Amino acid sequence: MKHFINLKDIKTEDLKKILRDAKKRKSKRKNLNTLDIDKGAPLNGKILIQMFEKPSLRTRLSFYLAIRQLGGGTITLRSNELHLGKGGETLADTAKILSTYGDGFMLRTDSDKKINEFVKHIKIPLINGLSPSSHPTQILSDIFTIEEIKKKPISKLNICWIGDSNNVLNSLIVASVKFSFDLSVACPKNYKPKKFIMDWLKENKRNIKIFHNPKNAVKNADVIFSDKVISLNDKVDVKKKIKDFKKFYIDSNLIKSAPKSIFLHCLPRGGEVSEKVFLGKKSHVWQQARNRVHVQKSILMYCFGKLR
Ligand code: CP
Ligand code: NVA
Repeated sequence: MKHFINLKDIKTEDLKKILRDAKKRKSKRKNLNTLDIDKGAPLNGKILIQMFEKPSLRTRLSFYLAIRQLGGGTITLRSNELHLGKGGETLADTAKILSTYGDGFMLRTDSDKKINEFVKHIKIPLINGLSPSSHPTQILSDIFTIEEIKKKPISKLNICWIGDSNNVLNSLIVASVKFSFDLSVACPKNYKPKKFIMDWLKENKRNIKIFHNPKNAVKNADVIFSDKVISLNDKVDVKKKIKDFKKFYIDSNLIKSAPKSIFLHCLPRGGEVSEKVFLGKKSHVWQQARNRVHVQKSILMYCFGKLR
C-alpha cells in the first residue's frame, strides 16, 4: 500500500503511470453509466473512508464516484461528529480505528501537522484531499486535463499561474519539477511563493519565473491557471487582500495577450476572473472538474498497489 500525500514524495515514474492508467480507464467508460463498474472491479470489497474538516464539492464527489466505479464503496465522515474533535479521542487511536474498519482514508484537513500525525499511526493508504500547504490530487488531475486538451506532454508547454501563492500553486510548483515544465507565476510583490517551496525548488536545481505584471507573465502561455484569492485556510484582512490582487484580475484583455492559451481553474471561483473568460471558449473548467473522477481512480489504484 502507498500513501498519496504530497507530489514531492511520489516517484515521477509512478505519477506518469497514474496518468496513463487514467487515460485508459477514461477511454473505456464512454458507453457506461455513472455507477457502472470498471471491468474486473479491481477494488471490489474495498471501502474508502473520507473525512472533511473543510467544505468540498468536487473532491468529495469525485472520490465517491472513483471508488464506486472501481467496485468499492465509501463512507464520508465530518470531523466535528467524531470523538477526535470535542470528545478528546486521540488522533493515534482514531487512526488505528480507521485502519481497523477501512481500507483507505482520504482526508481534507486544516492542518498539515495532522496529516503527519495520521501517517505515523495509520495502517491503510492515506490520501491528502487538500491541506493548507498542498492539493496534490487536484494538480495531478489538471496535468491529465492539460495533456488531453493540448495533446502534448506538459514538459513541452508553458504554464502560467495568476493569483495567490496558495496550496494549489505549491503543488503546481512541485509538479513543475516532477514533470519538467516551465512555470511562470504572476502575483503581487507581497504574495510571492512561500520560502519553503522556493527552497525546495532550489534543492532540486529548478526555478520558476515570478512576475508582478500579469501581461508579461502570460506572453507565451499555453495554459493560464488561477484560483481564489481567499483560500479556505486564509486568516487575512479579506478586503485588503482582494484590493492587493486587483491588478491580477483575469479578463478578456489579458487573455488576448496569450493567444494560444487555455484557461483552467480548480473551482470554486471568487472574483479573480471575469464571467466572460470563465465561461468563454478558452476555458475548460468543467472538463477539468470531470477529469478528477478518472484521475482519483488511478490514484486509488496506485494506493492499493494495483497499478500495472
Ligand atoms: N477543486 C476542489 O478541490 O474543489 P472542492 O473544494 O469542491 O473539493
Ligand atoms: N486554494 C483553495 C482551493 C480550493 C479547492 C483553498 O484552499 O480554499
